[in-house]
Amino acid sequence: MRLANKIAVVTGAGSGMGKAAAMLFAREGARVAAADINEAQVKETAAEIGAAGGHAIAIRADVSKSEDARRMIDETVAKFGPPNIVYNNAGIEGDSNYVANMTEEQFDRVIAINLRGVFLGMKYALPHMVKAGGGSIINQASIAGMVAIKGGAAYSASKAGVIALTRVAALEYGRYNIRVNAICPGAIETPMAQRIRKGEPPKQHALNRISVFGRMAEADEIAKVALFLASDDASFATGAPFVIDGGWTIS
Ligand SMILES: NC(=O)c1ccc[n+]([C@@H]2O[C@H](COP(=O)([O-])OP(=O)(O)OC[C@H]3O[C@@H](n4cnc5c(N)ncnc54)[C@H](O)[C@@H]3O)[C@@H](O)[C@H]2O)c1
Repeated sequence: MRLANKIAVVTGAGSGMGKAAAMLFAREGARVAAADINEAQVKETAAEIGAAGGHAIAIRADVSKSEDARRMIDETVAKFGPPNIVYNNAGIEGDSNYVANMTEEQFDRVIAINLRGVFLGMKYALPHMVKAGGGSIINQASIAGMVAIKGGAAYSASKAGVIALTRVAALEYGRYNIRVNAICPGAIETPMAQRIRKGEPPKQHALNRISVFGRMAEADEIAKVALFLASDDASFATGAPFVIDGGWTIS
């Protein structure tokens, strides 16, 4: 088991990639603090992990709120001990609008959850990781943080911010044996992607444009990358944005 004796916090663990990672981390031996703003869904994740023989607690937390982010880490430490792995995955797509039509509230909401949420997750976990002698932080960015997507001013800015934040934290905390990396997924089949498609099935011509494989990825295909970054196999990886986009951005 690749995460035996590790303690992992996963945010946005009630759905999509966060849930897939929480389940995979637990299967690989980690004790998982599964956090999400959606209490019912994150309790379901923890229950599924328990039913499969793993160890998990469910924490209701809004990652954009300082007191929630702090409590998320404190509860993890109290229940399991200091986290070795923190996957700051929670995020929202927000409303799509061209810049002049985007309201300040729409912009601020996406930045608060996708960018400040990642900052707060690191801010409250890092002192424990420093004290414990090291660890791995994984921040969920997106290829939208590298290329422009119409209507995505807030989303793209938030994800580019996550990549920048990741680099700074990696530079600052390498000396404490803490690795900080970002994952930049392309199009992944999750409830978020289904909301963006408004329930429509994916169109083949669009799929061929967004991946050389002509399909979207399953959440598990990203969870496996998170597992690699969480594990000691990634011992020399830090400060890097890992693009996992099925070739979307190669041309
Ligand atoms: N699906 C894609 O194609 C795609 C591509 C690139 C990046 N991403 C990013 O991956 C991450 C996960 O996305 P997903 O597709 O699995 O989405 P999802 O909507 O299926 O899951 C996101 C989870 O985050 C939770 N969440 C939302 N706001 C929160 C908050 N304030 N505090 C705590 N939890 C909150 C939701 O309740 C949900 O359970 C997001 O950061 C998203 O931006 C998604």
